[in-house]
Amino acid sequence: MARTAIVTGGTRGIGAAISMALKAAGHQVAATYAGNDEKANAFKQETGIAVYKWDVGSYDACAEGIAKVEAEIGPVDILVNNAGITRDAMFHKMTPQQWQEVINTNLSGLFNMTRPVWDGMRSRSFGRIINISSINGQKGQAGQANYSAAKAGDIGFTRALAQEGAKKGITVNAICPGYINTEMMATISEDVMQKHILPQIPVGRLGEADEIARCVVFLASDDASFITGSTLSANGGQYMG
Ligand SMILES: NC(=O)c1ccc[n+]([C@@H]2O[C@H](COP(=O)([O-])OP(=O)(O)OC[C@H]3O[C@@H](n4cnc5c(N)ncnc54)[C@H](OP(=O)(O)O)[C@@H]3O)[C@@H](O)[C@H]2O)c1
Repeated sequence: MARTAIVTGGTRGIGAAISMALKAAGHQVAATYAGNDEKANAFKQETGIAVYKWDVGSYDACAEGIAKVEAEIGPVDILVNNAGITRDAMFHKMTPQQWQEVINTNLSGLFNMTRPVWDGMRSRSFGRIINISSINGQKGQAGQANYSAAKAGDIGFTRALAQEGAKKGITVNAICPGYINTEMMATISEDVMQKHILPQIPVGRLGEADEIARCVVFLASDDASFITGSTLSANGGQYMG
């Protein structure tokens, strides 16, 4: 069944793959982004997917942006909270600003985006919330106290909200990607990749953004209506927590 989906950070990387896969599955998609107009416009040209710019860290911007999407496309049935940032530093060097920016985008962004769509989903008795967490929210990662805390928080948010949404036909699930082959990974040297990263991944390769996108399409489908509050690890066997 065709539904309306919002994918935050849906114009680049994993989010772009998710936006395209949801469109290919027959849904109407709105992809949001924070500031990279060039990438967003190129994505819109290539895919025909509508793009919207606002900061998921601002509740008012989310409420306003979602109202615009609902007026132009339709009530939101599927929300993919994918937008995320890193501000890595060892804790003894981490600044309050690095902490706050990551918490605000990667954790508060989920509240800011989900709260404005929640009442509509409840009244229509259908909803799919899919939160893109991370392997580092499950196992922790040195240099990422801020990111690991926010991503672990995303899992707690998922589990609490799943219990509230269950009787209203709303499922809430998290996906925890491991290392995914995105622009971010392309900056890592071949030497570091071969010696330090690939040996940690039992399947011996990075994941592809499409592999995360296929998890999202499944969790968004009617076939997944009995799955809620779950955390789907997609990490090539790197962590089995
Ligand atoms: N890549 C990995 O290996 C990996 C592994 C585990 C988990 N993840 C998670 O997967 C998600 C996507 O990662 P990615 O590597 O695909 O990221 P990415 O390529 O850096 O893209 C991030 C997207 O999020 C948007 N964004 C960032 N901050 C935002 C904000 N405050 N408001 C609205 N949009 C914002 C960006 O918009 P602009 O284009 O305007 O900047 C962009 O569209 C993130 O939550 C990340 O933590 C990634």
